[in-house]
Amino acid sequence: MSELRIHPVIAALEDTIIGYRRYLHQHPELGFQEVETARYIMDQIKDADIEIFHPMAKTGLVGIMRNGHGPCIALRADMDALPIQETGDVPYKSMNDGVMHACGHDGHMAILMGTLLALDQNRSLWQGTIKFVFQPAEEGEGGAELMIKEGVLKNPDVQAIFGLHLWNYQTYGTIGVKSGPVLASADSFEITVRGVGGHGAMPQGTVDTIHVSAQLILALQSIISRNLDPLQPGVISIGQIQGGNAFNIIADEVSLKGTTRAYRPEDQQLIHTRIQEICDGIAATYGAKINIEYRDSYPPTINDPEMTEAAARAVRRVTEAGLGDPYLTMGGEDMAFYLREVPGCFLFVGSAKPHHKSSDVPHHCSHFDIDERSLALGASIFVELVQEMLPPAS
Ligand code: NI
Repeated sequence: MSELRIHPVIAALEDTIIGYRRYLHQHPELGFQEVETARYIMDQIKDADIEIFHPMAKTGLVGIMRNGHGPCIALRADMDALPIQETGDVPYKSMNDGVMHACGHDGHMAILMGTLLALDQNRSLWQGTIKFVFQPAEEGEGGAELMIKEGVLKNPDVQAIFGLHLWNYQTYGTIGVKSGPVLASADSFEITVRGVGGHGAMPQGTVDTIHVSAQLILALQSIISRNLDPLQPGVISIGQIQGGNAFNIIADEVSLKGTTRAYRPEDQQLIHTRIQEICDGIAATYGAKINIEYRDSYPPTINDPEMTEAAARAVRRVTEAGLGDPYLTMGGEDMAFYLREVPGCFLFVGSAKPHHKSSDVPHHCSHFDIDERSLALGASIFVELVQEMLPPAS
């Protein structure tokens, strides 16, 4: 591992930041229920010279820190936990039954709180305005969209936004920063196939919805293999199928549920359009009725080239290790909504413990845990980034 340079103003706060993360880990709350979480954050930052707006997007909050003339940038952390019963044996295990910070959002909040305190106490390092965005409900409920609707990017207008995700698929000490798409769009759909049931021995006169569904499932994969540019990633997965009651009865209805992923908005749209066309075509071919409900959920997360350069310069002052591709996945993130409005960059901070293989402790698993040294590393990158974006007048 190359040398890591934890920023001195963060090194002084490292134990505090770890303490924040452990408290938040013990007290997880689901999306749009982060009431105690918000209260805890506000309590810990109450001595800082900032203006706090709460509640925003139901349970979120924003702290605005001003320090002379200069542009305004935003740093964002998500707040929600997952409906998972923690099985790991750690002293800071979740005290809320069936709820767990299994994605690292506890760490994201702790990093942002530490960054906030460090920048409040060290104002000679920077000049301008910083919005500290604590956003609820990242996991599927679109807290970011609501924050934007309630004006988080306005008054003062945010010129650039940055966020990070602790990343257990990479070891502590490495950072992923890359221009362009880094996470995929994440849409969902539900297809209902309706036909005519009957006796399994007498298919004539029926419209067999299981047979139709089989054709449909295979045909949908042709969108990826035949319609999408082979150099562009895309995924269609059917995760749920339900239909039929007995081995000798032809089912009159089948429902299918799935998700789609893409890196480019035009591919997200192409997949949507082609699913509809294939459903219509298969329905006409077999005489079934096919209804599709398609939900455009998260757009792809796309990093701005110039802001990524700024982020990469900040990262290089902390570590040289691991910039680049290994961090890319087809997961989704509602950071995407901010990055559609203003330029910015979403980074990945390797958080797997050195003895873990990348698949050992994945996100959303019931024994998820991080190498806590990644917290000070993430906060150091935020501080370097602020110095990069909001340099003090000399
Ligand atoms: Ni997450």
